[in-house]
Amino acid sequence: MKFDTPATTNPIDQLKVVGQPLDRIDGALKTTGTAPYAYERHDVAPDAAYGYILGAAIAKGRIVAIDQARARAAPGVIAIVTAENAGKLGKGNFNTARLLAGPTVEHYHQAVALVVAETFEQARAAAQLLRVEYARTEGDFDLAGAKASTDKRTTDSNKTVGDFSDAFGKAEVKLDETYTTPDHSHAMMEPMASTAAWRGDKVVVWTSNQMIDWTRTDLASTLGIPKDNVRLVSPFIGGGFGAKLFLRADTLLAAVGARIARRPVKVALQRPLVANNTTHRPATIQRIRIGATRQGKITAIGHESWSGNLVGGKPENAVQQTQLLYAGEHRLTGTRLASLDLPEGNAMRAPGEAPGLMALEIAIDELAEKLGMDPVEFRVLNDTQVDPANPNRRFSQRRLIECLRTGAQRFEWAQRNAKPAQRREGRWWIGTGLAAAFRNNQVMKSGARVRLDGRGIVTVETDMTDIGTGSYTIIAQTAAEMMGVPIEKVVVRLGDSSFPVSAGSGGQWGANSATAGVYAACVKLREAVAQRAGLDASTASFADGMVRAGGRNVSLASVAGEGGLVVEDTMEFGDLTKQYQQSTFGAHFVEVAVDAYTAEVRVRRMLAVCAAGRILNPKSARSQVIGGMTMGVGAALMEELAVDKRQGFFVNHDLAGYEVPVHADIPHQEVIFLDETDPMSSPMKAKGVGELGICGVGAAVANAIYNATGVRVRDYPVTLDKLLGRMPSEAI
Ligand code: MOS
Repeated sequence: MKFDTPATTNPIDQLKVVGQPLDRIDGALKTTGTAPYAYERHDVAPDAAYGYILGAAIAKGRIVAIDQARARAAPGVIAIVTAENAGKLGKGNFNTARLLAGPTVEHYHQAVALVVAETFEQARAAAQLLRVEYARTEGDFDLAGAKASTDKRTTDSNKTVGDFSDAFGKAEVKLDETYTTPDHSHAMMEPMASTAAWRGDKVVVWTSNQMIDWTRTDLASTLGIPKDNVRLVSPFIGGGFGAKLFLRADTLLAAVGARIARRPVKVALQRPLVANNTTHRPATIQRIRIGATRQGKITAIGHESWSGNLVGGKPENAVQQTQLLYAGEHRLTGTRLASLDLPEGNAMRAPGEAPGLMALEIAIDELAEKLGMDPVEFRVLNDTQVDPANPNRRFSQRRLIECLRTGAQRFEWAQRNAKPAQRREGRWWIGTGLAAAFRNNQVMKSGARVRLDGRGIVTVETDMTDIGTGSYTIIAQTAAEMMGVPIEKVVVRLGDSSFPVSAGSGGQWGANSATAGVYAACVKLREAVAQRAGLDASTASFADGMVRAGGRNVSLASVAGEGGLVVEDTMEFGDLTKQYQQSTFGAHFVEVAVDAYTAEVRVRRMLAVCAAGRILNPKSARSQVIGGMTMGVGAALMEELAVDKRQGFFVNHDLAGYEVPVHADIPHQEVIFLDETDPMSSPMKAKGVGELGICGVGAAVANAIYNATGVRVRDYPVTLDKLLGRMPSEAI
């Protein structure tokens, strides 16, 4: 099915099942510990051996030799995989660095070897006995240093509208500040893990991956075998946040290890390997310049962002939202990419907008203050309903103003004192802050197979993944709505490359795109049912397990009969995303308390108001948004990969050193969804929320800290050492 004209009324609009806050259908499996994760597939590979990855101890250079003698002699060792015996490995589409080093090493903790043994402990012990001799070469690990020598080591990309320099120069009120965000680790609960088994020349890998078809394609091309010989199975995933979009070392080395060991092999990345072996959100340095009239109209807006990556990697597109969020006639945005020899930078929840808004939404707050304007009013005044670079291109839906106004009312924003450091409760300075949220809405082609059987059960199969987001449930809701059956009559099977290729889970496109694919398949199934029942498909209605048309009423079960009915279709998206700018919007409000003596920051309450199309399941969508808000608090207050600029690696590479918020850090969160439908996005009229929730949160926290204390911190995370020496005097 092709989606190229705006959606009209369709069966989803009944909202009998879709739009209901249903519990997750996989909830019981998850909470009882019976959902089988990739490392636990004892059922399918009971004889699996254990693989343990040894990561490179240098950031850049060459492996001179690996002395394997002691490791080979260690108890239980079955095989040792290195570049020497791994066979010729190609390179997939999605990785910048190779997944197995040798002889060159491209980044710290790049896999050097996989030790396969009878038990995990034996593999780990033997890995410590490998003696690797390296020839280390110097590398570039310092983004600020690379920025200082931009001319030599960075590449640029600019987008301009009008004459930014001239307009900024002439602006009556202006801001020119630089903000920084550090490297972030995804820190999902389940590390990357795979169990691989060969049957002849075909390999099956049970893994934990967001994008089945991308990863299947890359595994096949890396191994140099036909795609048809690779099957990936990933029904349950313990979080991803972008870390599991691509083929990683666990999957490749489990497959290679199993080939060499001639038996199934399972590999999980040990936690201390995750930060440096895989990808991360790259650090940014962002310069923002905004000029406005004295009345507060933005006339010039400029945002440049520097980030680093391995040669061949991409910049962090932190300026993305600045192209669309606010009006302003003269504009300049640009990314500058420095080559660094740190591990590969890549997508992490809301790549671009998440770090970009951390900077932009402080800058907007700072300019509002210079103008003496309320930060809500300043944002409202500079709203735009069209793409500022192309006034003929409207937003399909844009209710940023309503998000801000609704949030301000619910949060009792009017009671706030705009002057900082005015509110004190005991030892705490209290302050509130806000930020706009923005994340683009992307759509991706997505397929599904739908089967109706003689018991009236509808089974959906698609390679879509559920990374903890609720895909199982919203897909079941979609099929139930379309076929007119209760949700208990729907079975959803996900994450298997033998199912039709879906949108996968990434870029907050999954929910809308994958359910649209299921919609397409169900439209086809409705037609097949009507035809077999001899009913007019165009007037047939589906409800209560029956199909009705022309006064006749037939049960789905009887139409399906013994043989059942199976159809398959793919939703393909036309150019509505080109005709209309499709984005999601929100507003975050935060109240913080800052200890007057220690500068410890406590977030006291948070509110998000989101406008993101139809909300397919308010319970799972809310869960996504509060997860994003929580991650935003982490980015604001604690998350930072510490870079060793001499040796070139992330020092705090485990969950003891890399801090993320825990329950005690997050006392009260509320989420409001504006009730809207976006007929330009898909027949579901939905958009994504999984990334919107994090967008802007960091700045809202930083703005609240400023309101509480009068201390403006422009370098994330806002840790107490950056506040302490600048706190207001104790007298108040
Ligand atoms: Mo997302 S960062 O595309 O999982």
